[in-house]
Amino acid sequence: MKILVTGGAGYIGSHTIVELIQAGYDVLAIDNFDNSYPYVLDNLAKITGRTIAFEKVDIRDKSALKSYFQLHKDIDAVIHFAANKAVGESVAKPLKYYENNVGGTVNLLEAMQEANIDQIVFSSSCTVYGEANPPVNENAPIPIAQSPYGNTKQICEEILHDQTIATDLKVVALRYFNPVGAHESALIGELPIGIPNNLVPFITQTAIGKREILTVFGNDYPTPDGTCIRDYIHVVDLALAHVAAIDFLTQKKYTDSFSVFNLGTGRGNSVLEVIQTFEAVCGVKLNYQIGPRRAGDVVQVYAACEKAANELGWKTKKTLEECMLSAWKWEKAIASNTLN
Ligand code: NAD
Ligand code: UFG
Repeated sequence: MKILVTGGAGYIGSHTIVELIQAGYDVLAIDNFDNSYPYVLDNLAKITGRTIAFEKVDIRDKSALKSYFQLHKDIDAVIHFAANKAVGESVAKPLKYYENNVGGTVNLLEAMQEANIDQIVFSSSCTVYGEANPPVNENAPIPIAQSPYGNTKQICEEILHDQTIATDLKVVALRYFNPVGAHESALIGELPIGIPNNLVPFITQTAIGKREILTVFGNDYPTPDGTCIRDYIHVVDLALAHVAAIDFLTQKKYTDSFSVFNLGTGRGNSVLEVIQTFEAVCGVKLNYQIGPRRAGDVVQVYAACEKAANELGWKTKKTLEECMLSAWKWEKAIASNTLN
């Protein structure tokens, strides 16, 4: 079976390529390196012992996508990661997000339809739930999106759903909770450009000395320690869920042509718990302060995971401790400048 991965040089895409190859799938990848680097492909080859069949393609370029599919006629399914993902930037530049995330997905679906490829796994986000009562299951209502980024995920889910009604397309939409950590080899991981928005890269960059101090955004929330609660999922567990989703599609285990699954641990951890876990397992004292709340943060969100367990046969295996250790090992690898 041949799987095309869009955004294959990115954080989650690169980890998924490793697990797909290790599960015996043939993998093709495309990316435009908007938020990633070509050396990731070399490091994927080091991890897997395979050269990655890669082409630089921008999914905004419809004719390039169509030509790509004409050259690669034997693709069985697509995993679609390519998108922009910075929530704050999406508020400042909404058209960039609608063009890339929504327009790029429409281009991809058109090219797939023309090439008679009718199976896709889509990267969605728990952001579609907004402020909900955890544990959140897949039937929770989808409120109006809090950001253009979140809206692109809602719109893409709807487009994909509509396309399953109009054509033979089969879709698995995966709603990720908070992906963290890195591959145990420390050859691939998350590469935030500029100042990180997300908690774990900010923790590791502060610990290594790239940032002076971590600010905890609010400790007056209605939670046990006053800080926000999230469901932090190890990126390798997340990657394995994509292999399970591809098995689910290609082995026709679905009952509906549009299936949606939460991907989380089912466990909620507060910001302070994450910091304390990092300090304990990595043996580093973190310089942090309590600051004001960040606009737009939900109080607490964590996944109900039963659907993925029952239908995909997948659940997470890695602990928060393993998440922190691998993120720290990755930060040290970046600092030692041995990645490329
Ligand atoms: P990432 O930025 O590391 O990876 C995305 C990759 O897509 C990058 O390599 C980028 O260069 C590429 N790309 C972007 N636009 C492209 C285009 N027009 N053509 C070709 N390639 C393009 O992000 P990630 O964390 O790996 O996220 C992957 C997917 O998962 C995204 O759709 C994201 O919205 C979604 N997601 C991520 C998170 C998270 O916290 N990381 C949470 C929920 C959902
Ligand atoms: N946090 C801090 N200090 C920081 C960074 C984050 O205290 O420097 C806190 C946040 O306030 C939040 C928690 O750490 O309580 C997690 O924040 P992240 O930014 O790591 O993650 P979010 O849950 O805010 O963001 C995630 C995804 C987005 C998605 C968003 C929607 O990364 O893609 O959920 O809820 F859109």
